[in-house]
Amino acid sequence: MDASAPASAPPAEPPPPAVPAPAPGSTAPSASTVAPAELPELVAFEGVTKTFGEPPHAKVAIQDVSFVVRDLPNLGELIALVGPSGCGKSTILRIIAGLGPHFPPTRGLARVFGKPIGQPGADRGLVDQKYSLLPHLTVVENIAFGLKLRGVPRKERQDRARAWIAKVGLEGSEAKYPSELSGGMQQRVAIAATLILGPRILLMDEPFGALDPRIRLRMQELLVQLWREQQGTVFLVTHSVEEAVYLGDRVFIMAANPGRLVEVLEVPRPDDPPEHARRQRWFTELTQELLRRLERNEPAPADHQV
Ligand SMILES: Nc1ncnc2c1ncn2[C@@H]1O[C@H](COP(=O)(O)OP(=O)(O)OP(=O)(O)O)[C@@H](O)[C@H]1O
Ligand SMILES: [Mg+2]
Repeated sequence: MDASAPASAPPAEPPPPAVPAPAPGSTAPSASTVAPAELPELVAFEGVTKTFGEPPHAKVAIQDVSFVVRDLPNLGELIALVGPSGCGKSTILRIIAGLGPHFPPTRGLARVFGKPIGQPGADRGLVDQKYSLLPHLTVVENIAFGLKLRGVPRKERQDRARAWIAKVGLEGSEAKYPSELSGGMQQRVAIAATLILGPRILLMDEPFGALDPRIRLRMQELLVQLWREQQGTVFLVTHSVEEAVYLGDRVFIMAANPGRLVEVLEVPRPDDPPEHARRQRWFTELTQELLRRLERNEPAPADHQV
């Protein structure tokens, strides 16, 4: 895909821009992987446009977005989506999830596992930007709710939910209701409620936005660890360039008015915990470059090397 190509260009995968060589004295991160074209596709957009409303008041949420994410066996891939407010990040996630009113797209084709998206499915889990919880259910019941829908017996689902409560650091809040929790705590319940279902494709819309820095780092590490265990594919919307560079294998850079995908940046997968990685030179150089590109709100010239 050439994200900067005109609307009529056929979708194809571009070679991602080069990343900087690690600076002397810094630890070289392991190279990230871009899937060879022969691997099966997991998620693909072909010229996807979503317009809300009718002319003359129609609002283009995303225009002609094309990309392919392939199935990397035993690895998975994390796609970080970054861009200004209103550029269509949530729209992309909700189309993949098959959720209205964003789904179906107005034009173009969106596929998961090689088939046109029809409706929401257990293969995709969305941690919504509003981390909507069921207000009449306790923390443990909220986290176990999806398992209940799948017919998992009560004892097993409660045990599994309690294990997730520990993973996201909410011990002691098992019997509380969402209204008794802070925004960050509610967010962790929403994350656990989705991750417990082990979706093949995990869609996370600013999942760490309401968390304080310490918990945010812990949740980032947890996500990396789980994703290594589950080898799933993750789409993560974030306003943090550091989070995008630390967690992403590829960063999709979007621009607004109309919402569109302007560039795809391949980034290395750090081996270090976030607090170490972000002190290294390659990391700060890459986050600065990503910031510059976002501020420019336009693609880098073709011959530009990061
Ligand atoms: N249900 C809707 N009805 C009308 N317009 C919508 C609707 N949902 C989104 N839009 C518009 O589509 C555009 C893209 O919205 P979207 O929520 O995808 O942006 P975003 O990148 O996720 O923004 P943010 O970073 O603020 O969450 C925006 O201009 C928004 O106003
Ligand atoms: Mg959004």
